[in-house]
Amino acid sequence: MAAPTLVRVTDLFDAEAMYDDDYLHFFASPRQRAEVATHGPVVPAGSSGQADAELAWRLLELRPDLNVLDLACGHGAMANQLAARGCRVTGLDSSTVFLDRARADADAAGLRVEYVAGDMRALPWTGHFDRIVNWSTAFGYFDDDTNRAVLSGIAAALRPGGRLAMDLDNLTAFLAAYCPSRVVAARDNGDMLVDRYHLDAVTGRFEAERTVVRDGRARKLTFVKRLFGFPELRDWLLGAGFATVHGFGEDGKPLTADHRRMVVVAALPED
Ligand SMILES: C[S@@+](CC[C@H](N)C(=O)[O-])C[C@H]1O[C@@H](n2cnc3c(N)ncnc32)[C@H](O)[C@@H]1O
Repeated sequence: MAAPTLVRVTDLFDAEAMYDDDYLHFFASPRQRAEVATHGPVVPAGSSGQADAELAWRLLELRPDLNVLDLACGHGAMANQLAARGCRVTGLDSSTVFLDRARADADAAGLRVEYVAGDMRALPWTGHFDRIVNWSTAFGYFDDDTNRAVLSGIAAALRPGGRLAMDLDNLTAFLAAYCPSRVVAARDNGDMLVDRYHLDAVTGRFEAERTVVRDGRARKLTFVKRLFGFPELRDWLLGAGFATVHGFGEDGKPLTADHRRMVVVAALPED
């Protein structure tokens, strides 16, 4: 029997079961009701990724023709927007269901994006990208050594002077709004997502047991995310080789405790 790879050993949850067609059904469908309470890694209702792309454009000083990687690009909401603005975009994700949707949307809009199936723990590029975006809490899925190794892989994939923007939950606002169980999404036909949460003070992780109810059938899955306050992630990024790290909110202004999102922008030294 083949020896298990490191990738499997460090998995804390089954990402394939989590990021599947059900996820797209609830979070990437125009029929999602905007007012439904949501928490965490949520693609907003019917989002075209336009507001997120605008924010990334501004904070990363993006320009047409820059080489951009959308790391854990999901169904391509951000990647397709950046391609529409003229960037040369690559999108990497581990979910083939999401990548299929991303390619279909790009084709329908006449956009060129290179969508690549891959694992953020083994990025196949060195010194290649001008910018990397990592959006909607798409970081922190592994044990801390592996999470840090992902940041080192990101730094290696950027050219000298390259920049990274990561969009994550803002810890202070996340904790202020914390509720141990909630209906995350509900559709008029009775489909819904119901989560039960556990905060682990020792690992800094947020653990969720999710019940997916769709077409009268229920299934359960679990997922885990590392929560970060800004100073901790800043220090991890500095440890991975970035020279400067700044925090912003979802409005692009300097990060405050009340911001819902934390957008961390880091730049590598020029040489
Ligand atoms: C919360 S979603 C965010 C997707 C996208 N960035 C967005 O803004 O819509 C997290 C994404 O991480 C991807 N993912 C999970 N584990 C991964 C891994 N090991 N390597 C690459 N992508 C991964 C999932 O498939 C999913 O698309």
